Amino acid sequence: MKIGILTSGGDCPGLNSTIRGVCKIAMNHYDMEVYGIYNGFRGLLDDDITRLTDESTTGLLTMGGTILGTSREKLFRKRSSSINDHKSAAMLKTIEKHELDCLVCIGGTGTQKTAFDLMEAGIKVVTIPKTIDNDVWGTDMSFGFDSAVSIASDAIDRLHSTASAHQRVMVIEVMGHKTGWLALYSGMAGGGDIILLPEIPFNIHSIGDTIINRLKKGKPYSIVVVAEGIATPEGKKAAQYIAEEIEYETGFETRETVLGYIQRGGSPTAYDRNIATLMGGHAVELISSGDFGKMVALRDGRIVSVPLAEVKDKLREVTSDHDLIVQGKKMGICFG
Ligand code: F6P
Repeated sequence: MKIGILTSGGDCPGLNSTIRGVCKIAMNHYDMEVYGIYNGFRGLLDDDITRLTDESTTGLLTMGGTILGTSREKLFRKRSSSINDHKSAAMLKTIEKHELDCLVCIGGTGTQKTAFDLMEAGIKVVTIPKTIDNDVWGTDMSFGFDSAVSIASDAIDRLHSTASAHQRVMVIEVMGHKTGWLALYSGMAGGGDIILLPEIPFNIHSIGDTIINRLKKGKPYSIVVVAEGIATPEGKKAAQYIAEEIEYETGFETRETVLGYIQRGGSPTAYDRNIATLMGGHAVELISSGDFGKMVALRDGRIVSVPLAEVKDKLREVTSDHDLIVQGKKMGICFG
């Protein structure tokens, strides 16, 4: 069998570990051939493909980024599932030319949708969820998330000492797109006093009250963790808006930090490396048993698969009954 493999959407730690897992298991155990498709779906359009070997997939376990490159290339029109005609022809030509039997698409929410549309167009696909946002529906965890949580919580740790030294409010904005998983997990792990998520509406007066109450208890500084996706007035970034509002509401000197792409860079955590290997291996098992149209998923601690038809178009959001929120509230953490 000949497998094509691609990475699509924003990069994250663990992509190379997953490529390694797929390749080594497919080549060494199942005697399959694996072809790397460069720059996401764009490589299918440009016929930018190379045969991967044991040698070319050595040393990938700890490496950040993706050796295949990535892009946010869209194959399908936005509102309908109809593929652009010229793109369809180019893509099918590439798949036929290299005699690829199926594709392994590693990506986030957009990739799951594109892979489903490809399946509808007659191509055999299996997908693996990756994203620092952890917003792919159908899996308890996407690889990349644990690494990003670790980077963001380390950054929050470092803000504590400077916040305390200057008696300031520190607002830190973390990624997460439209969901608050990264803000919740890093905010709780980093000891945030106020954690704002897109899923929970906030009230600036309760945020101000939390900061003032901390002062009354002898804590003249506060750490505010905000998800980039919270509601803000047109044109205002999350951290900038919240910092301005806090300063206006409390009179406290407030500073903002936008963590940015550091959250997506560098080596994956041990947890992400192992999840990447397990997910890569499961994707190959699905292929070997002809079980296509599925996304590999982690559910209740086990690696399983879910139909792409169930995954596409859905977003995995934080709910207010999440254990971290319930226990956090009992500790006095303000969630808005
Ligand atoms: O989906 C991952 C992510 O890093 C989001 O957290 C963020 O909103 C977005 O990608 C940034 O996208 P880009 O790489 O296109 O700037």
